[in-house]
Amino acid sequence: MDSKALLFRALAFLSLMPFSSPFAPSDNYLLNCGSPTNASLENRVFMGDSARPGSLFLSKDKSISLADQNPPPNSSVLYRTARVFTGASSYEFKINKSGIHLVRFHFSPFVAQNFDLKVATFGVSVDGYSVLSDFSTKVTVLKEFIVYIKEGVLEIALSPASGSAFGFVNAIEVFSAPENFIIDLGARLITAAETQEYKNLSSQVLETIHRINVGGSKLTPFNDTLWRTWIPDDEYLVLKSAAKRAVATDPPNYQNGGATPEIAPDNVYMTAQQMNRDNSTMSGKFNITWEFPVDSDDGRYLVRLHFCDIVSRALNQLYFDVYINGDSAYNNLDLSVLTYHVLASPFYIDFVVDSDRSGVMQISVGPSDLSSTMRINAILNGAEIMKMLGSVSDPSGSQKKKVWVIVGATVGGFAVLLMLVVAILLAMKCKKKKPKRRPSGSIAWTQLRVYGGSSHSKTSVGTLNTSPRANGYLGLRIPFVDVQLATNNFDKNLIVGSGGFGMVYKGVLKDGTKVAVKRGVPGSRQGLPEFQTEITVLSKIRHRHLVSLVGYCEEQSEMILVYEYMEKGSLKSHLYGLGLPHLSWKQRLEICIGAARGLHYLHTGSAQGIIHRDIKSTNILLDENYVAKVADFGLSRSGPCLNETHVSTGVKGSFGYLDPEYFRRQQLTDKSDVYSFGVVLFEVLCARPAVDPLLAREQVNLAEWAMQWQKKGMLLQIVDPHLVGQIKPSSLKKYGETAEKCLAEYGIDRPTMGDVLWNLEYALQLQENGRAREPHEDSDVIDSELPSAGNVPRIPSSNVRTREDDGDGSSDISTTQVFSQLITNEGR
Ligand SMILES: *[C@@H]1O[C@H](CO)[C@@H](O)[C@H](O)[C@H]1NC(C)=O
Ligand SMILES: *[C@@H]1O[C@H](CO)[C@@H](O)[C@H](O)[C@H]1NC(C)=O
Ligand SMILES: *[C@@H]1O[C@H](CO)[C@@H](O)[C@H](O)[C@H]1NC(C)=O
Ligand SMILES: *[C@@H]1O[C@H](CO)[C@@H](O)[C@H](O)[C@H]1NC(C)=O
Ligand SMILES: *[C@@H]1O[C@H](CO)[C@@H](O)[C@H](O)[C@H]1NC(C)=O
Ligand SMILES: *[C@@H]1O[C@H](CO)[C@@H](O)[C@H](O)[C@H]1NC(C)=O
Ligand SMILES: *[C@@H]1O[C@H](CO)[C@@H](O)[C@H](O)[C@H]1NC(C)=O
Repeated sequence: MDSKALLFRALAFLSLMPFSSPFAPSDNYLLNCGSPTNASLENRVFMGDSARPGSLFLSKDKSISLADQNPPPNSSVLYRTARVFTGASSYEFKINKSGIHLVRFHFSPFVAQNFDLKVATFGVSVDGYSVLSDFSTKVTVLKEFIVYIKEGVLEIALSPASGSAFGFVNAIEVFSAPENFIIDLGARLITAAETQEYKNLSSQVLETIHRINVGGSKLTPFNDTLWRTWIPDDEYLVLKSAAKRAVATDPPNYQNGGATPEIAPDNVYMTAQQMNRDNSTMSGKFNITWEFPVDSDDGRYLVRLHFCDIVSRALNQLYFDVYINGDSAYNNLDLSVLTYHVLASPFYIDFVVDSDRSGVMQISVGPSDLSSTMRINAILNGAEIMKMLGSVSDPSGSQKKKVWVIVGATVGGFAVLLMLVVAILLAMKCKKKKPKRRPSGSIAWTQLRVYGGSSHSKTSVGTLNTSPRANGYLGLRIPFVDVQLATNNFDKNLIVGSGGFGMVYKGVLKDGTKVAVKRGVPGSRQGLPEFQTEITVLSKIRHRHLVSLVGYCEEQSEMILVYEYMEKGSLKSHLYGLGLPHLSWKQRLEICIGAARGLHYLHTGSAQGIIHRDIKSTNILLDENYVAKVADFGLSRSGPCLNETHVSTGVKGSFGYLDPEYFRRQQLTDKSDVYSFGVVLFEVLCARPAVDPLLAREQVNLAEWAMQWQKKGMLLQIVDPHLVGQIKPSSLKKYGETAEKCLAEYGIDRPTMGDVLWNLEYALQLQENGRAREPHEDSDVIDSELPSAGNVPRIPSSNVRTREDDGDGSSDISTTQVFSQLITNEGR
């Protein structure tokens, strides 16, 4: 790797690294009102607002500073002074950056001189919007408002209510919220009749009413990224015995769920309440319900619920329903899917709910109908209830700015330097360790080698560090607005899945083409070079059994890939997903054959040498006619380097598919794909996951378990009950042998994908014709010299198709062509 490429990589790396440095707001004003001195509190300095006559911030001043002569010994330093205004007064703050801001007012009434602050009644407005009117308090309270504020001057006006001689405030905070703290996308408006999307959330002035760390302890501003206070949920539980605390020991995986430490801190996601099934009087399905006091008027509320699956031992075990005020708010919540198949990944959902005037907001979670009886559970990690006070003037702009940019801009010079060093070290380490097959450039796609189009020359993709634009793929570029349009502006309801790269949305392009839109997320490890290389590679590969790239978008720091839409979803969902019809044996064989063909092409076709590395039933997709297509070519391998820790987290979800030899020797060959494919074959036959930790020990790992039965010649015992009686014994025998060979301990003993394909075709023939008709008897199909499976010579034949990738990928390849393909390929 030359130094320029290295620098490029390091920089790309930098711009995408999730930083754990504390959030640094671009606007940040903290005032200790009525005090001449600065007050240090929870690592923050509140500036005295009366350091000199006529405060720095007071633009309209009919006020005095008041000090509590007799403060309680343990009271906060902020509450020992107050600004008391006897007439309309205002503070002015210069706002550097338009966007959502948090505005907090601290009120802690005391008696001093002639003022009893407990009797003060007053109003407060933010940017002309009245947030408090006729307000008075006898106890210490903190009022928090979340408001969109435009760049320029923010005026906070306070005035005594008519009939009251004065008002007061002890402290004021005004600071920028993190980007995407309140977004317009994906909020769900809940009514008794239906759920629809609520738009324009960011234009709402919100008042925080409750902020609850469910199942956890009180969190103080010191514990929180945005200096919030979270309180425990116990006193709000309707039936305490229904809930049981869950506590995680490891910090959450903030990567795929959409939540960040600023949305809620670790501590919120590391604790939860779950169904208490220890109490024998609580049996079957039941809800956990909380009731939070709210105003009993007609108000509308934003209910933000936080989830993080810290209770499941494996993915796809937790399905539950959420109810608000008795209305269904979210059915079959499946965190595994919503968080890209990463356990313990924080996720939050915004609900907009109208008050039912009862004076309480009732929130319940309970097991959904999808839960298997063994794994009934439901959880909640955190809840925030904010009253929607009304809408401010159009909050335009700023919404589209990306966190990456902000992150990049807020990191100090030293950190940049440090990251650069780390990135370079990583890159060098990768280079050293990389297996033979992988050209320089290392990550995921960069290991791929492509056929150089019409010139037939082989190119190492690893050297293609240039932008796709430079490579002339302009035809594939899709304007961001078109992607927005296609996905209804990344409507959460259109999310169909996820991967290491980001969320996947269903969409429809302007021309009516259905597409799957994969949008890179900040924090994703998939870097820019990989994104570009992927476009370079995918734009050249076209095959009927490989999911194809429709286009991409890289405007506005976006990294978006648009693929053809696969109507029927993943193979996995059809094997043991929920509510889908069972596939017949013939359908399953055809799907395996299709996938094998796609893989075979990757390994040995004209794009020779591509190793998928993540073959599993979720990466085999089905179109509307159940034609199988292999997807996610190494996208899940987004770590900086194959051998680095990242990859081991990346393979979490696909552990049961991993080639043991590759695992031991760290050397990648196409036989690793063959191994994974063998696992898929058993998965297809037995309709169970590759790894199911809840089963008896000897059954947990499908590959091991199925191999035992196969070796005993008793495979039929473990066949999917829906297939029993359907499979002809000869077909099953061939199939079992094929899968067994794929799972051979050593790569060298495994068949090539070509052999696998041949054998699967044969198993299909056996099923169809009933009789063990040897393929070489098929003189009308192929040259009679065609030998038995596993030893196909390279003989040209009159039926030969020399290349399968004639660009359109539309060729329908028959059995005949499989053989011919085998014959012409070099890669064995
Ligand atoms: C706002 O920007 C000015 C310069 O543009 C800077 O001096 C000031 O510190 C910024 N204010 C805050 C609160 O960051
Ligand atoms: C209080 O803090 C501000 C800004 O941090 C600083 O300019 C000022 O000098 C401080 N005042 C005192 C009395 O320390
Ligand atoms: C201060 O101490 C009193 C009595 O010990 C207690 O009731 C009160 O809650 C404390 N206040 C705070 C803010 O800790
Ligand atoms: C939402 O915002 C858009 C554009 O800002 C505006 O056209 C629309 O009227 C708003 N809708 C509501 C319900 O406020
Ligand atoms: C929160 O911060 C306090 C210090 O203010 C500390 O004692 C406590 O352990 C922290 N709690 C958690 C859960 O981190
Ligand atoms: C078990 O649940 C019942 C209510 O269903 C409750 O009255 C009882 O206290 C609970 N027992 C324990 C030990 O929590
Ligand atoms: C949970 O609460 C909802 C709404 O009140 C109700 O419809 C549902 O039947 C409850 N589920 C169970 C298992 O009690």
